Amino acid sequence: MIDAKTKVLGLLAHPIGHSLSPLIQNTLATVCGENVAYLPFEVKNPDELGAAIRGAHALGIAGFNVTVPYKEAVIPHLLGLGEEARLIGAVNTLVRTEEGYVGHNTDLAGMATMLARKNLRTEGAHILLLGAGGAARSAAVLAATGGAAELVILNRNPVRAEALAKAVRDITPSLTVRAAALEHWQELPGNDYLCIQCTSVGMWPNTEESIVEDPRFFEKLSAAADIVYTPEETKFLRLARAAGKPVAGGLAMLISQGAHAFSLWTGKRCTAEQEERLLTLAKGALPA
Ligand code: ATR
Repeated sequence: MIDAKTKVLGLLAHPIGHSLSPLIQNTLATVCGENVAYLPFEVKNPDELGAAIRGAHALGIAGFNVTVPYKEAVIPHLLGLGEEARLIGAVNTLVRTEEGYVGHNTDLAGMATMLARKNLRTEGAHILLLGAGGAARSAAVLAATGGAAELVILNRNPVRAEALAKAVRDITPSLTVRAAALEHWQELPGNDYLCIQCTSVGMWPNTEESIVEDPRFFEKLSAAADIVYTPEETKFLRLARAAGKPVAGGLAMLISQGAHAFSLWTGKRCTAEQEERLLTLAKGALPA
């Protein structure tokens, strides 16, 4: 029930489209017994992002999730950044302080949970990333801070792969990081890569696409994860599963990054069991 004490939170995005965040956050509020209302705020004009944030602060809005296309654009309007947001160079959560908003990035924690649910460990792992955009950057920082033995970045555009590799080497100079064009996957020497698919390939409605289809690719993996969560199991994951590999889907990452953001705003952490229930609820809200 909304009353005079309700804490207002929201999502900054454009387009807001079919975002699951209002469902996730308002369900978390109910489950955790918090007097919170989470609303969609579509900032259509990027030139008005600064005005939106200043206005929100003046209104006392307690926090936001930030998503496409504002995860980097929001940074100049913030008071400061949390460590993970600084390393990733992008923000998905704003927390209000009296002086302004502080930017955090809970994608890293979400990704770690997505892997941990399936007992997939970054420690000592040979991590293979497909993609070199914003999502790949979160995965690369996870590899760099999560004790990976090696990181390989494959991207359609090899220049972007190399740029990301360089950024990771700056964070963790001791980590072996290699970058190459996606088409060179056949030259991968190993056969136990933990592969994280970090592009939008295969996302609804293009559900019959997979960034790689050749069964010999999947033989090189120990496990596969996909940040895409529509559909819940992408074609990429179906192919990995057909090759007998453990798989992890992106919906758990979405739920977990949301739960971490909720915890930054309220101090309340939902239990693993509640997170699983939320996962079931979110599955029901996905596009058919
Ligand atoms: P995000 O922030 O969601 O990661 P992005 O920065 O636009 O989005 O990055 C998209 C990623 O998906 C990139 O790695 C992109 O490859 P390029 O850098 O070569 O453009 C990758 N990508 C998108 N469509 C692709 C496709 N059809 N085949 C291969 N890679 C694709």
